[in-house]
Amino acid sequence: MAENQNQQAAARIRALTKQLNQYSHEYYVKDRQTVEDHVYDKLYQELVDLEQKFPEWVSLDSPTQRVGDHALEGFKKVIHEQPMLSLSNAFSKRDLLEFDQRVQKLSSKAVSYMCELKIDGLAISLKYQNGHYNGGATRGDGTVGEDITRNLRTVKSVPINLQQPLTIEVRGECYMPKASFVALNQLREENGEEVFANPRNAAAGSLRQLDSKVTSSRNLSTFLYTVADFGALTAATQAEALDQLDAAGLRTNHERRVCRSIEEVWTYIEEYQEKRQTLPYEIDGIVVKVNEFSSQAEIGYTVKAPKWAIAYKFPAEEAKTVIQDIEWTIGRTGVVTPTAIMTPVRLAGSTVSRASLHNYDLIQEKDIRLLDAVMIHKAGDIIPEVTSVLIEERSIDSAPYPMPTHCPVCQSRLVHLDEEVALRCINPMCKAQIKEGLNHFVSRNAMNIEGLGQKVLEQLYEKGLIKDVAGLYFLTETDFLSLDKIKEKSAHNLLQAIAASKNNSVERLIFGLGIRHVGSKAAKILAEYFGSLRSLKKAAVEEITAIDSLGGIIADSVVQYFKKPEVQELLQELEKADVNFEYLGVKKSEIAAIESAFKGKTVVLTGKLTEYTRESASEKIESLGGKTTGTVSKKTDIVVAGKEAGSKLTKAQKLGIAIWNEQQMMKAFKESDS
Ligand code: IVH
Repeated sequence: MAENQNQQAAARIRALTKQLNQYSHEYYVKDRQTVEDHVYDKLYQELVDLEQKFPEWVSLDSPTQRVGDHALEGFKKVIHEQPMLSLSNAFSKRDLLEFDQRVQKLSSKAVSYMCELKIDGLAISLKYQNGHYNGGATRGDGTVGEDITRNLRTVKSVPINLQQPLTIEVRGECYMPKASFVALNQLREENGEEVFANPRNAAAGSLRQLDSKVTSSRNLSTFLYTVADFGALTAATQAEALDQLDAAGLRTNHERRVCRSIEEVWTYIEEYQEKRQTLPYEIDGIVVKVNEFSSQAEIGYTVKAPKWAIAYKFPAEEAKTVIQDIEWTIGRTGVVTPTAIMTPVRLAGSTVSRASLHNYDLIQEKDIRLLDAVMIHKAGDIIPEVTSVLIEERSIDSAPYPMPTHCPVCQSRLVHLDEEVALRCINPMCKAQIKEGLNHFVSRNAMNIEGLGQKVLEQLYEKGLIKDVAGLYFLTETDFLSLDKIKEKSAHNLLQAIAASKNNSVERLIFGLGIRHVGSKAAKILAEYFGSLRSLKKAAVEEITAIDSLGGIIADSVVQYFKKPEVQELLQELEKADVNFEYLGVKKSEIAAIESAFKGKTVVLTGKLTEYTRESASEKIESLGGKTTGTVSKKTDIVVAGKEAGSKLTKAQKLGIAIWNEQQMMKAFKESDS
């Protein structure tokens, strides 16, 4: 019976893995969505649940394995058997014509050119062995790069298995889409962290992470453009090679075009200089390559770059304008952000009159003053930024812009927290923060209260009808009818939407409360782990850090948050209003319906394990209904001691706690599996 169930689970896990990988391939590689999000999510959740019950059937290419592993001490070096070259640049049509002439001189036959977009990211190399992902590296200095195998494994467009069993090395660009760059910077600004200057820096910062979980959360993508080691592939041209990469399941960029003359190349360049703004990723030029490999070989290389290719760089788009004012706005967490208000100018396809200055340090560093003439550009083609001040145009009576000392809304003193670059208003009663907090609470990923927009919330707050988020649940029809432009029908709809939100699973509430550093993903993990807000609010820092994917910063922030008296009061109000505090998804503890020695037990892993990493052992124990923590206390049931275990082992001995070695742990795993 159990055996039968086990076989059925194995088959279902295989089928789900295959199907989800197919959807994912279509979405991330082919840019085609073939399944609705909720259907995908449901199948994914089914797979997660099954894999937790039957961890022995988790395959390396399961979509659940793309979430990142534990942090590394440093990167290993990788020697590129074939150096990763760079390209010489062209800045004008004339440079391009000269390139064409050199090519004609060096090749015995007529050539065609492959035009490709020059993706603004980070060069990477990927290796496949018999069709299986076998490692990834950065370019480094071209000869020696860094081993970022684990990080690239989390990038969804990097296939774990190719469509054919090829042994090849391919190269390309890893990049961050413009939209992800904007979202990431917004989040960083809100958290008082430094923002990335452009998508390339953001991609580099995300790929060169010792903790692959960070990479995994960053939404990177790839385009491959070179085959470094063809293996069994045979291609005579760049066009064929790219088509073969496509067929193998590797993502290539489809804006490419074969041109028969340098004039055609120029037309392509002009076309994409226009189209550039509408692309979802940033490009900084066009790469022109001789298409025929035989001609490439004839033309040859310099030490640094191929002579058969050139990168045409787009001129930087800049505009000149004048700073009229600096506006300070307060975010939900009290971060005070300056925005430059400028004389409107046209820049890269739109009229620009505002640019974020990010923080006061930046104003000081660039010495930006009122009425200064400045040059602006668009970071990631989208976000206007001040590049430089034209100091020579400054009038003699101008003075440095002073650091604001008080919140422009509540007038309380502004502070710098810890190492943050941001200035903060730390008055929890600051109106601006409360209003932002209300907006966040009702937003789509939080309580998702439809129709309750900023204007309505503002009125409710200004009229004193609500003072915090709990107030929403005590509103009446009369309250809504007292607002501008709200008639009975919309009052009714709003009340219904508010009431419906009471039944949300608790991760929405946890996210909606706006606890610092707790994004929607962390909220989900906390909800799943603790099962309810009541348990979460009692959690100790160690209990939270024991969760594999959450770190100390989140744990501290959560614990500090629930300690605040005003938070406790708020929770009481929410409870009074009957807002659901429970996690309504599948609970981790319920997952381990099978009997195991770890069920309900608190386990501490210490010392060096040989067969398992501490992370994998901990995952396994949790999938079997146990809990792993980092500290030995009276509450600990089992201590698994590997080699060279130290103080934790001594403490366990003192407390008389059961002590197991790795073999005993593995035996218990085996027994739970059957
Ligand atoms: S070909 C030997 N193609 O630009 C061929 N490079 O300035 C070398 N890049 O390091 C590269 N898009 O990181 C090539 N379609 C493309 C590219 C591209 C972006 C980057 C790449 C390279 C740099 C050279």
